[in-house]
Formats: sequence, structure tokens, C-alpha cells
Amino acid sequence: MKTTKRILVINGPNLNLLGSRERKHYGSKSLADIESRLDDQARQAGAELVAFQSNSEAELVERIQRAGRDKTDFIIINPAAYTHTSVAMRDALAAVGVPFVEVHLSNVFAREAFRQRSYFTDLAVGIISGLGAKGYELALAFALQYSKKS
Ligand code: DQA
Repeated sequence: MKTTKRILVINGPNLNLLGSRERKHYGSKSLADIESRLDDQARQAGAELVAFQSNSEAELVERIQRAGRDKTDFIIINPAAYTHTSVAMRDALAAVGVPFVEVHLSNVFAREAFRQRSYFTDLAVGIISGLGAKGYELALAFALQYSKKS
């Protein structure tokens, strides 16, 4: 019987630049800092965290598809700029049916109009936007209890 929860954290384009990129929107923590903190949080809860970042839409679609086959229980995803453009990533998430939370570091609703449309939100269990790196930790806390089997 499978007992360990597997949670996949997916980050989209330019999020590999976190820490140096537009700090007023995205903060000063690097993606490595964020992922390592999430890894600790998952371990403490006896869960497995898998982190993936890509700048390529095709690779992101492939990784989402793989989540449908590799026993991923929950996805935390920041699709970054693809939030506002990617029907392909949306369709991949719909196809695999793994529950997910959409995370944005910045408050996309307080920014340019084009950032206020997401191809993901209506499929998501929920969305966290504007809480910086803390948003990932809160999403993980939720994922850990959401995927907990009784
Ligand atoms: C972002 C918001 C997007 O609009 C933007 O393209 C990003 C990051 C965020 O985390 O706030 O790259 O997803």
C-alpha cells in the first residue's frame, strides 16, 4: 500500500531567476531557497516533495502529463507567464486530473490587466496570489492535509 504523499511543485518560465528578477514583485529569495524550505516542510510531514522548473511550455506539459503516471497526489503550480497564455498546460492538467493549487508570488489582480486572466484558476482547487514565497508554504500545508488518506 502506498503511504507517502507525493507533491509536485512546478514553476514556469523566468522563475529560475527568482532572487534577482524584479524583486519588488517577486522578492529576494531564490527558487533554490524556496524549494529547499518546501522540501524540509514536506519531510517533516513524512511526505515527498518533487520540484520542477522549466522555461519551456513543452517540457511543462510533459511534466504535467508524467504526474498522471507517477503517483503524484497533488500539484502546486506557478505557471508564471504561461498563466495568461497556455491552453496546452491547462489541457494537460485537465487530462491528468491531479488536484492542484495555483500560486503567484505577486498579486496578479493588482497588476496589469493581462495578468488578471488565468487559464488555470477555474480548474484549480484554489489560488494563492500576492503572499510571496510564503504562498508556496501555505499551498504545501494545504496539499499535505488535502492529500492525506484516512
Ligand atoms: C507570476 C505572475 C505572472 O504574471 C508573471 O508572468 C510571472 C510570475 C507570479 O508569481 O507573481 O512570471 O506568476
